[in-house]
Amino acid sequence: MVRKGFQTKLTSKNPLYFFTSQWVHSSNSFHTNFLLPKHRPFARSSFTRKVVFPTNATVPRNGSLGGNSVKLSSQSSIPVVATATKFTKPIVGYWLLGTAGLVFGIVVLGGLTRLTESGLSIVEWKPITGIIPPLTNVHWEEEFEKYKQFPEYKLLNYNMTLPEFKYIYFMEWAHRIWGRAIGLAFIIPATYFGFRGYMSKATLNKVVGLAGLLGFQGVLGWYMVKSGLSEETMTTPNAVPRVSHYRLAAHLGSAFLLYAGMLLTGLQVLRDAKIANGNFPKAVARALANPAVNTFRRSAIGTTALVFLTSMSGALVAGLDAGLIYNEFPYMGQRIIPPKSELFSKTYANSLWRNFFDNPTTVQFDHRVLAVTTLSVITALWLYSKKVPLPSQAKLAVNYLLGVTGLQITLGISTLIYMVPIPLASAHQAGSLTLLSTALWLVHAMKKMPIKI
Ligand code: HEM
Repeated sequence: MVRKGFQTKLTSKNPLYFFTSQWVHSSNSFHTNFLLPKHRPFARSSFTRKVVFPTNATVPRNGSLGGNSVKLSSQSSIPVVATATKFTKPIVGYWLLGTAGLVFGIVVLGGLTRLTESGLSIVEWKPITGIIPPLTNVHWEEEFEKYKQFPEYKLLNYNMTLPEFKYIYFMEWAHRIWGRAIGLAFIIPATYFGFRGYMSKATLNKVVGLAGLLGFQGVLGWYMVKSGLSEETMTTPNAVPRVSHYRLAAHLGSAFLLYAGMLLTGLQVLRDAKIANGNFPKAVARALANPAVNTFRRSAIGTTALVFLTSMSGALVAGLDAGLIYNEFPYMGQRIIPPKSELFSKTYANSLWRNFFDNPTTVQFDHRVLAVTTLSVITALWLYSKKVPLPSQAKLAVNYLLGVTGLQITLGISTLIYMVPIPLASAHQAGSLTLLSTALWLVHAMKKMPIKI
């Protein structure tokens, strides 16, 4: 089979660059086995393909990672041009999916920590010694004494007993321990995979970026807790001892981004390995190359961004305890849209626009509007999916997306109507990450092929 117009440059950015392949010059075409199982030498394979490269195709010379490539023209006569062996091993993909699962878990645990009002129980950040909780009664008393110095105890929990304190302490301690465990489960294998050369340069860069985001997440967590320990609460009239809703939203947003990065990178690694081994279905590759799906692909990315935005507005609702007012739907009081005087009130914000972030009524109203918009956009995307020739995985993903959105809206309304009971609120939070995962699955399923198969 001769294929003309092979539309790709084989540079170090192209995943195929890393796949085991042998390029042999023969007149103006090359035989390659890169779409076949990589351990099957092309010379012995009856499935060997003949691919004609455009004259400016750039092919790595010796499989090394950086810029060590040579431009081939149809007149080139390099006998064996490349045996590229540097590609990301599938185990790295499975590991990244596993770490994404751990991040999902800590988001749910973090939500429970907030909902049980446990987040401010440990008033120090000791990365090493903090691993061990108080073990004796004396130590417990000491920790309790420290907690008593801060506004949450003085203003809200002045009746708290030691057993009650132990409960909220353990919730926060478990959250921090889980965070440390994720750090280790990420850094140790990442270092091993890096040194053993299990990752391509592109994957390595992403893993380094994710490690940075993971560290940042820890710092942000403590920055958030510190805002809830501020002595200012004692002197500000009507102030409630709780963490800044901005910092809470930032902490949740960065966890969502970390999760998304791990999930997408893991899926990408596994897909590249499938392509390299020749196991990627050709029908799917052909469907993805069809220009008719380009608008759908862009719409799926936009929809994912909207899910993220709606989730961040939900974090502001949670951070301001704005789910404890207007416990009805679709009405807010007598009307669907609350009066202007309430939406733009000087009680909560000096400037008009700050009401969108600081006024509980406006923040809840925004979340409703964004949630309904998300539902409408996803319904439209689902209807659109019926009109374009999508690959089967994408069809499945968009069907799930609509189902999960329906569930998430139902959970949101139930959380509101029942005044934020812990199980419902926690399920609503987990639902938001499930929705994001489904949207990311769709984005991944629509990802363009690095080459034409
Ligand atoms: C696409 C739909 C939705 C998404 C992605 C979404 C996402 C979120 C997220 C991420 C949170 C923060 C959870 C936390 O940090 O604990 C949240 C909170 C909340 N959402 Fe939604 N939500 C959606 C729809 C709705 C709807 C339709 C309602 C009700 C009208 C609603 C009501 C609430 C309430 C009351 C909270 C605060 C719960 C708490 O204090 O723990 N949500 N939402």
